[in-house]
Amino acid sequence: MKKLIIYATRTGYVTECVEKLAGMLSGDVDTINLAGRPPAIDPGRYDTIMIGGSIHAGKIQKVVRKFCAAHSPLLSTKKLGLFVACLTPPEKAGQYFEDNFPRSLVVQAKAKGFFGGAAYYERMSPIERFIMKKISGMQESFSKPNDAGIKDFARAMG
Ligand SMILES: Cc1cc2nc3c(=O)[nH]c(=O)nc-3n(C[C@H](O)[C@H](O)[C@H](O)COP(=O)(O)O)c2cc1C
Repeated sequence: MKKLIIYATRTGYVTECVEKLAGMLSGDVDTINLAGRPPAIDPGRYDTIMIGGSIHAGKIQKVVRKFCAAHSPLLSTKKLGLFVACLTPPEKAGQYFEDNFPRSLVVQAKAKGFFGGAAYYERMSPIERFIMKKISGMQESFSKPNDAGIKDFARAMG
């Protein structure tokens, strides 16, 4: 019963979530960061696959969208989970799934995870930092993890 978590991150928050998630899942868990030059992925080797990333201006990372599009027929045969990290609260963030993943996968997914979000100013560009400070009203880096959301997701994925 092998499990795979595939993800992308901009400033590292999703990596933290994936580490927590991997620790909550049973059995063998592989994690793959799609950034840079990821190792060759053979999704056929896994029976449970979880895919996610973080939201910037309403969009998940392009590598995540590309991966889903490229593997969508195979993914439709798996136990699938989708997740997002963002600063919009879960009750208002559902649309991000519809907007960023193929409809067939959203419908099929056993779980949709809202993992919370963080603003790590030191890892942002000056413009991003300026905008985020304005929007959030927070002058220091902060994180708003949704550990309960990660736990619920892990429970659903087994
Ligand atoms: C430039 C920028 C745009 C963002 N846009 C959104 C957004 O549209 N909706 C949202 O809920 N969060 C938004 N966020 C918050 C990120 O989703 C949040 O910081 C997330 O935790 C980043 O995760 P990462 O470090 O793994 O990339 C934005 C953050 C930045 C820096």
